[in-house]
Amino acid sequence: MGDQNYTSIEELEKLTAEVNLELEHISDDAQAEAFRIKYLGKKGLLRSLLKSLKDLPEDHRRTFGARANQLRAEVEERFKAAPWKTAGMEQRDRSFDPTLPGLPIPSGSIHPLSKMQQEICDIFVSMGFEIAEGPEAETEYYNFTALNFPPHHPARDMQDTFFISDAALLRTHTSPVQIRVMEKGEPPIRCIMPGRVYRNEEINARSYCLFGQIEGLYVDENVSMADLKGTLLGFARRFFDEDTAIKIRPSFFPFTEPSIEIDIKCFLCKGEGCSVCKHSGWLEVLGAGMVHPNVLAAGGVVGDKYTGFAFGLGIDRLALLKYGIDDIRLFYENDMRFLRQF
Ligand code: DAH
Repeated sequence: MGDQNYTSIEELEKLTAEVNLELEHISDDAQAEAFRIKYLGKKGLLRSLLKSLKDLPEDHRRTFGARANQLRAEVEERFKAAPWKTAGMEQRDRSFDPTLPGLPIPSGSIHPLSKMQQEICDIFVSMGFEIAEGPEAETEYYNFTALNFPPHHPARDMQDTFFISDAALLRTHTSPVQIRVMEKGEPPIRCIMPGRVYRNEEINARSYCLFGQIEGLYVDENVSMADLKGTLLGFARRFFDEDTAIKIRPSFFPFTEPSIEIDIKCFLCKGEGCSVCKHSGWLEVLGAGMVHPNVLAAGGVVGDKYTGFAFGLGIDRLALLKYGIDDIRLFYENDMRFLRQF
């Protein structure tokens, strides 16, 4: 190639292609040096091209000269970028050390309400309860009628319930899942049903328009109030502490008869009275009772041999108490400064 005399633009273009190809195939410093001498050095081909200029006719000289100069400049540029240095394995950037431990990946944490729900469910699961779920958008039938709410009961009022249409609403409690579970299965039924519920209430530090509940249902032969008491005392001891006491008060719910509310001895002051328990020594934590026969019937459980108990507890309230938080809204605002603490 060295002896060839380049005089036409076509020859020049052919040379360009050859030079580029050779440049691409350089894989180490020795080959690079050979390339440099051959093309770019003082006696290199790309320099000597210009020497033949003087023999060319005047008008051709200009275009040929310009193209030859351009070619040399381009090759010099590409050669300076030393592509073989970045391509070869052995030449890799030594500032990257693959044996160093990786950078920590920022991970999220479990939301305090999810954590609380998980903890409560785990306790009941260890007692033999299964977990069941139902829809958050419910029908009036499951949320009220099947649960023995009389037709004009005040709890059906627009004040408390977010209606979607005349017959559809956002469930106001997890109790409708009791009906769905009974419809699907046969006694013995032992289920807990966690989920979100919605109420059209004023939003403040103590109440929010949605919150978490956990429903419990046990239907079998000979289920009695003593079973309910034993189950909930067992739960309270696991959740709070071994020497927790519970107090049972009579109450009213349309879907249970008799109905009770259960208070747990304040785990902070041990019953002495403090600001958390409003100086009563007790915390109101759940509603419960023996499942009303109308509710058993609505769930398709017929015959006198089956009885059942049910209970419902609020997750948010337990989380507030357990973590000593004074504003329920913090659970729903997704403020990372709050959430990172869990
Ligand atoms: N559903 C009731 C509420 O939202 C809580 C409740 C009370 C559930 C008694 C029950 C129960 O299963 O037996 O306030």
